Amino acid sequence: MHNRTKTLGEFIIENQTDFQYSTGELSKLINAIRLAAKVVNHEVNKAGLVDILGDAGDTNIQGEDQKKLDVLANEKFIQTLKNREIVCGIASEEEDDFITINSQDENHNNKYVVLIDPLDGSSNIDVNVSVGTIFSIYRRITPVGTPVQLEDFLQPGNQQVAAGYVVYGTSTMLVYTTGNGVNGFTLNPAIGTFYLSHPNMQFPEDGRIYSVNEGNYVHFHQGVKDYIKYCQKEEGDRPYTSRYIGSLVSDFHRNMIKGGIYMYPKSSVTNNGKLRLLYECNPMAFLAEQAGGLAIGGKSRILDVQPTELHQRIPFFCGSKNMVLKLQEFLDKYH
Ligand code: AHG
Ligand code: MN
Ligand code: MN
Repeated sequence: MHNRTKTLGEFIIENQTDFQYSTGELSKLINAIRLAAKVVNHEVNKAGLVDILGDAGDTNIQGEDQKKLDVLANEKFIQTLKNREIVCGIASEEEDDFITINSQDENHNNKYVVLIDPLDGSSNIDVNVSVGTIFSIYRRITPVGTPVQLEDFLQPGNQQVAAGYVVYGTSTMLVYTTGNGVNGFTLNPAIGTFYLSHPNMQFPEDGRIYSVNEGNYVHFHQGVKDYIKYCQKEEGDRPYTSRYIGSLVSDFHRNMIKGGIYMYPKSSVTNNGKLRLLYECNPMAFLAEQAGGLAIGGKSRILDVQPTELHQRIPFFCGSKNMVLKLQEFLDKYH
């Protein structure tokens, strides 16, 4: 493959003209994320060595314990984006409210807002299993030069201009889309450079992996229970394989490469499931669709949901097209 050795930096420059508004700002923003990803990668890699494991003692807005690495990743991403002066606002899963940047300085007319899940799958840190970072980028809808507003963040996912994730796995990869397909870059840790290793990533149309926390089975709605039973039935190419890491980023990444479906349904105890629409579901849904997959929230397309709150949760089903369509058939029986 002729472009195996292309670096992320080269790729960003080459593809800059793809963007609808090609002022170079979005390129700078992706570059800032690239830098932050390397910094966080360094921290994640040494997590087992230094005293950054364990709870930080705080709880985030969802009432969950924060690990120290969550706090650190949050700080690194926010600081990198602030330093580069390229965004007007940031919302993070780890912050109660959105952050306004340069609102006092009329010389800064930044157009973009970034939403991040700085460390996804944090329960896996202590056990040396893959974690990730998820990001989502929108153009603000309020006038430039004025302080960013909540409505700039509460845009439906179909308005995203870019989205992606970093998976800190056996290799560290940065995977993103700007609406022209999905490309994956692998970090060479020896020299700190990301290389284009997975050009034009595509979900296989069919898959044989289902990913769901089956421990919650008893609480799931009948449509989801029936679909899980369908996956387990001995017929045709079934039973399917069950794989669940507990890091959305890693589960999604595997399913995109191998073909599969990820499910985080609502249940009788969590009415909207667990995953956050803005920080997790929308960016993953944008990537999924760009890679030929589908993402639904139960009844309809995730990307068309109008958000009402920053930390809103929503049921999430995402993956290979034909698997999601089959699941939809089961869900529709009970609506
Ligand atoms: P986070 O670490 O950012 O809070 O996200 C964890 C999420 C997601 O990554 C994962 O798929 C899911 O929680 C796992 O939840 P369960 O442990 O309930 O299965
Ligand atoms: Mn997460
Ligand atoms: Mn998180």
